[in-house]
Amino acid sequence: MDTLEQINCEVVACKNCILSDTRTNTVPGEGPENADIMIIGEAPGFNEDKEGKPFIGAAGRLLSRLLTNAGLTRDDVYITNTVKCRPPDNRNPLPFEMDQCKKYLERQIELIDPEIIITLGRFSFNRFFPDETIGAARGKLRKQGDQKFYPMYHPAAALRQDRFKKLLEEDMMNLRSLLKDIYISTASTSSKEESMNSGEQLSMF
Ligand code: URA
Ligand code: SF4
Repeated sequence: MDTLEQINCEVVACKNCILSDTRTNTVPGEGPENADIMIIGEAPGFNEDKEGKPFIGAAGRLLSRLLTNAGLTRDDVYITNTVKCRPPDNRNPLPFEMDQCKKYLERQIELIDPEIIITLGRFSFNRFFPDETIGAARGKLRKQGDQKFYPMYHPAAALRQDRFKKLLEEDMMNLRSLLKDIYISTASTSSKEESMNSGEQLSMF
């Protein structure tokens, strides 16, 4: 049986692409295995590479703050990236690198089996929807097979331009009501309904 720990161990030892030559640490991902929400960013940056944890730099701090708009905390979500090692000088991840790293992401998704996947930025979005643009897709819930997706702009873009920040804030606000709808429509078989009704879990509702 696959476990997050098993995947993490393989990532730590992985040399399947050239990013392994320049990384300090791999950044497999972080969060509870039973998370309902999975967030997929682009690639680790300077701070993430140093610490081995995702989204802990400036973009990560903004992300944490924005999550509160959706009534969420970091403890509610599993966070990872399309590639698990930092591209030198924060360059874009290359198609070959994302392809080599894809198997880890796929196994993480299978294992966590999230209710909803939030993609941050175009690289993450285009992993799943290669022929579309993030500008047109952002802020709209969509499905691929049984999997729900909610694409958003990347918080690093929001740090660079106020326009993106406003849209990201808006999309996070809308996520709050979307999540509420999702839980109401899927809760019949699960303990989520009980926890929602009792206000235990996902206390923001
Ligand atoms: N940007 C990302 O896409 N991922 C991180 O982990 C940090 C910054
Ligand atoms: Fe392996 Fe992914 Fe790191 Fe490349 S980016 S070395 S495929 S873990």
